[in-house]
Amino acid sequence: CGIVGYTGKQHATPFIIEGLKRLEYRGYDSAGLAVTTAATGSEPGEPDSAKARAPSAAKLHYLKRIGRVAELELAAAQQHSALPALAHCGIGHTRWATHGGVTEANAHPHLSNDHRIALVHNGVIENFHSIKTFLLGHGYTFASETDTEVLCNLIAYHYAKTPPQNAHNANDAQDARLLVAVRGALRHVEGTYGLVALCVDAPDELVAARKGSPLILGIGEGEHLVASDAAALISRTQKVVYLNDGELAHLSPTDLRLSSLNAAPLEPVVDQITWSIAQAELGDYAHFMQKEIFEQPDALENTMRGRFSEDGSTAQFGGLNLNADELRNVDRIILCACGTAWHACLVTKHLIERFARLPVEVDYASEFRYRNAPLSPTNTLCLVMSQSGETIDTLAALREAKRKGLRVLAVTNVVGSTIAREADGGIYQHAGPEIGVASTKAFTSQLLIGAMLALYLARLRTMSFTDGAAAVAALRAVPALIRKTLEQAPRIAEIATRYAQVTDMLFLGRLALFPIALEGALKLKEISYIHAEGYPAAELKHGPIALISPDCPSVFFVTRGELFSKVVSSMQEVKARGGPIIAICTEGLELPEKLADARIDIPDCHEAILPLVATIPVQLLSYEIAKQRGCDVDKPRNLAKSVTVE
Ligand code: G6P
Repeated sequence: CGIVGYTGKQHATPFIIEGLKRLEYRGYDSAGLAVTTAATGSEPGEPDSAKARAPSAAKLHYLKRIGRVAELELAAAQQHSALPALAHCGIGHTRWATHGGVTEANAHPHLSNDHRIALVHNGVIENFHSIKTFLLGHGYTFASETDTEVLCNLIAYHYAKTPPQNAHNANDAQDARLLVAVRGALRHVEGTYGLVALCVDAPDELVAARKGSPLILGIGEGEHLVASDAAALISRTQKVVYLNDGELAHLSPTDLRLSSLNAAPLEPVVDQITWSIAQAELGDYAHFMQKEIFEQPDALENTMRGRFSEDGSTAQFGGLNLNADELRNVDRIILCACGTAWHACLVTKHLIERFARLPVEVDYASEFRYRNAPLSPTNTLCLVMSQSGETIDTLAALREAKRKGLRVLAVTNVVGSTIAREADGGIYQHAGPEIGVASTKAFTSQLLIGAMLALYLARLRTMSFTDGAAAVAALRAVPALIRKTLEQAPRIAEIATRYAQVTDMLFLGRLALFPIALEGALKLKEISYIHAEGYPAAELKHGPIALISPDCPSVFFVTRGELFSKVVSSMQEVKARGGPIIAICTEGLELPEKLADARIDIPDCHEAILPLVATIPVQLLSYEIAKQRGCDVDKPRNLAKSVTVE
């Protein structure tokens, strides 16, 4: 889900709607916003003549809609009376349902019973049932099924108990009443939250708090902003403060104060966002996914920049916080991730084992966190991969590994993300913001980092200078090879036309291309809703071959090398049963006549980068099929870009 908040001189509503649009990729079931108007006579920028009018009380206005942010925008434009043009402070939310169905009542912001406090919230309040029972006992009522409405009323309960000038403890005494109330409520909450609250009594103030769900504060000119993702702030400012778990922020147009749940004041650390608004915009592309596929040569160039040794025989990383001796002592690596990043881990395992001869295990982060794997902290290294750096299961796996004494490294694309900050060291992907829900450039940049890490570890062990130099030369060539592979886009679009209406598809590859088969199947099912599965080609005969029919094409990765003839015989098994074959094939490689119904060539390349190059055709194929089926490529049903709830 996405959160935006604004307080300042400018109009709040257009900023919030624009911010929500930029965050829509995080969730898009429903959207809403709440704004306050100050008591007349105190509006910033209001002419003196208006101030002379009879004063009226400050007001809270809100609007929610099911569906996309565009619905909310339309409603906001139509309902001038409900949403005043002159609001300077407000909060907004775009939702991906967890508690309760997709209804207007369940959409955020949620309001307290007296409609004086509004709240937007990401995360899950685990003890909301007991809090709800408590509040029902105190006469509160509930209009929705959500935990957020319960939290909002708990804040209202504490607010009512907090006289303006008389706070609970000595530290609280200096603090605004809403801040004291939010803090009071959060002391009783179990679960996760990134939240922003607004109260009609202090119409230009916001209170934000975070535990387990990201929030970023933006510092503008005479304004302060808050959002769950930098994409919503970047149009106004690149100066940000990342809120940490357990911290609260109190924002007014001119003031930004941080404090802890115990009301201790904290010093904000101001960071600079390094990317610009243009990188988060569509430009001439039809979809973000398409843009991000075509951006890959540049993104990968950025991932590699400055990361090869001067002698050109190995990779180097600035942020591992582990020296060469420590890395030589590592005798086991555990990789954890979710979704697409998990596939990148599978390839990385293959490459580290192949080149550095180090045993590597790959776990789903969601499983690792609960399965209590036997670990020997001294020599085991854990590495987590996460594009967003916020996936809750990956974060929990990181914390579990740290609790058990392991050193944890993180590969993430989002600078300052929670995972990046909590890891002992790490490698930033520098692939630029990824907006399309289906991960593309972030995946290939993870593959690239995996290959570079394998090279680095191998050169600390047994790999020769010559082999290292050959690998570096191969890695440097990646952007050019990807560019060349992208030239196949028109041909792939034509192949997609032939298969866009099928019901099932299999993806088959071997060794390091098996994870790419999994990734191809995932991409296709995510965005086109065609049932797809990935398998090692030799597993065909142990089950999936039963699915083969003219309506179930198989995509084979068939490349030069030791297993070429084995893959060809798997293809023949499919052909014999009437299944269409799409071959993703090394250029110049001869296949038996009429074996493939369609062929997509990829350049011949070093085995460390083959998975990377082989990914491009399956990205394009999925994209084209989804587009031709009329699917909403960037916002596939039921999915979210970043899953910050368990
Ligand atoms: C979600 C996204 C996937 C992504 C996964 C892990 O499911 O839809 O595209 O691969 O989360 O995300 P992360 O940000 O941790 O890489």
